[in-house]
Amino acid sequence: MAPSAELLDIAVEASRTAGERLRAAFRTRPAVETKRDFHDPVTEHDLAAEETIRAVIAKRAPDSAIVGEEGGGAAGDGVTWFVDPIDGTANFAAGVAFWCVSIGVAVGGELVAGVVYDPVRDDLFAASQEGAWCNGAPLRSRGATRDREAMLLTSYPTPRDFDEHGDEALRRYGRLLTSFSALRRPGSAALKLAHVAAGWSDACFGRGASPWDVAAGAVLVRQAGGLYLGDPFRVGPYLAVVDGFDLGSSALHELDPRTSS
Ligand code: IPD
Ligand code: CA
Ligand code: CA
Repeated sequence: MAPSAELLDIAVEASRTAGERLRAAFRTRPAVETKRDFHDPVTEHDLAAEETIRAVIAKRAPDSAIVGEEGGGAAGDGVTWFVDPIDGTANFAAGVAFWCVSIGVAVGGELVAGVVYDPVRDDLFAASQEGAWCNGAPLRSRGATRDREAMLLTSYPTPRDFDEHGDEALRRYGRLLTSFSALRRPGSAALKLAHVAAGWSDACFGRGASPWDVAAGAVLVRQAGGLYLGDPFRVGPYLAVVDGFDLGSSALHELDPRTSS
């Protein structure tokens, strides 16, 4: 097995094992605590799922580093796993069916594999250096080329974006709303990226994303032939579009992570 295929296999096992438990817990209205502020929920299931994932990785790849949303950790020089046990906890906790397990893998500072698992639909999005698939079928990130025909998935502006950008955030949001054929705010950065990789949506954008939110999705989009912009190893903005999308003429242009923060 090629090295990235072996790492992918471990990520698949870890995400499916955690995902099964999460599926059983979904729509039980678990108790919610908050972290940074009241917009940032966490449940006992976030913590348990990350422990499950860490245990699978520790067993099958004991010499690797793990950076997890709940357990922390630092990237290493060899293999590093970026783990979000539930991306979209607000959805998960309330009972909205748009959340996932996200695991990205880097070797020597380069992303080589990623899994985004949607336990509700049992959709497993996987990418390695050999390609990208959903439930074994190859992914092709293809769709609309211009805003007026395109579906944009974004949580922008979040409450934190409002604090930072004020009225400018509203103006930008208005431009996005009126330029795109449709704009949806489903939550879960990782699952949004998987949808763009699959060509089920045409673009997604967010700010303040952490490596565990976007590492897996970045590999999926790139391996499916789409365009991923942003640095997946740093907290910051990300933008992804399907292959051939005309970013230059898009209302997203002013939010391009290469020229804005
Ligand atoms: C959050 C979700 C949300 C995004 C936030 C993330 P969490 O992750 O992906 O859509 O806007 O930036 O922190 O807290 O549900 O894992
Ligand atoms: Ca997350
Ligand atoms: Ca999370």
